[in-house]
Amino acid sequence: MDLKKDFYMNSGAGDNSYGSNSKIQGLIICKSQSVRREAAVAAYLGTGPPATMSVADLGCSSGSTALLAVEDIMEAVERACVELRRQPPEFNLLLNDLYGNDFNAVFRSLPEFHSQRPGKGLCFVTGVPGTFYDRLFPAKSLHLVCSSSSLHWLSQMPEELQQKEGSPAACVNKGKVFISAGSPPCVAEAYRKQFHRDFRNFLRCRAEEIVRGGWMVLAFMSRRSREAAMMEDRYIWELLADALNAMASENLVAQERIDSFNAPFYAPSLEELEEEIEGEGSFCIRSSDHFRAGWDDDDLYYATGGAAADGVISSARYAGRMARGVRAVAESMLRSHFGEGVSMDDLFCRYDGLLAQYYAANDAAVTNVVIALVKK
Ligand SMILES: C[S@@+](CC[C@H](N)C(=O)[O-])C[C@H]1O[C@@H](n2cnc3c(N)ncnc32)[C@H](O)[C@@H]1O
Repeated sequence: MDLKKDFYMNSGAGDNSYGSNSKIQGLIICKSQSVRREAAVAAYLGTGPPATMSVADLGCSSGSTALLAVEDIMEAVERACVELRRQPPEFNLLLNDLYGNDFNAVFRSLPEFHSQRPGKGLCFVTGVPGTFYDRLFPAKSLHLVCSSSSLHWLSQMPEELQQKEGSPAACVNKGKVFISAGSPPCVAEAYRKQFHRDFRNFLRCRAEEIVRGGWMVLAFMSRRSREAAMMEDRYIWELLADALNAMASENLVAQERIDSFNAPFYAPSLEELEEEIEGEGSFCIRSSDHFRAGWDDDDLYYATGGAAADGVISSARYAGRMARGVRAVAESMLRSHFGEGVSMDDLFCRYDGLLAQYYAANDAAVTNVVIALVKK
């Protein structure tokens, strides 16, 4: 599987599309809004201010959330310009995602996007296909970079766990698809090393592209402690493995395909993240924080600790939303690894049932980090 080509969010606007199942990511953009807005104004004032402000969103995807973060940034800078009695800048908005992203859907939404800015300054939108683990933009060309719900995706399955021809290192994580209870310690170590390589590459590339005094605001899934994934951090994958293993026991999936799949996902702790940033050395950390977000914008639900109560969404309904959300995100890579013969309807129906049982007794919220950095 080559993630650059084989990983994309489900396109369109159907039941299983990312556009119809990205409420949680919209909530994460909202919950990190104040950090992004402050960074936008600081980046604008701290870099000139420039006549044209270049802003990149890395991992923009498509659907209702694709333009939310950049919209926010323009609004914050334009409001600051009114207060400062300055002419606002023109905006160069650069929307990046992998090659299979539904950029056409984003482009089709642009007339409406522009029509919602009457009387505002000019903004120019460009799609930039490619991986954010490589260079994407010319040197010293960006004033602000943001990324939301994307950087927990690694560039590949952890290298040390990949099945290479004749390699005995394969299949150390039998029956699992992520760091799980019962995974040998080398699995967590392989994930940590892959994250280290990837995140360092990410920082080095952005350090080339961002001007001095430019900012970067990153929000993505995180762990609350340095401990290798606790159940609250790994149930999404552990229950998916349970659903796959149940299908394997009925000969609907080859067990060997499960044993060789390790989700290219890693949610670092705040400490790990800070160590990487300080170790790489190109950026100063201006703020960093954890926050929790449920798989809906219904704060009431997770205020109850996940228990279903009158007027509160039931764990079964919640599970349905979550199963569709995970399907919208992961279906392309699962199809690529397991093959077209494996029924995604069957897999996600089983997953939905397992999630409902889990949510009947457990909190549904997931941990995220938002971190603001300035280029030295
Ligand atoms: C869950 S979506 C989040 C999209 C959007 N930012 C939002 O908040 O709704 C994650 C996006 O990151 C993209 N992505 C993952 N790895 C990437 C990489 N290495 N380079 C660029 N985009 C990547 C995926 O293709 C996907 O569109």
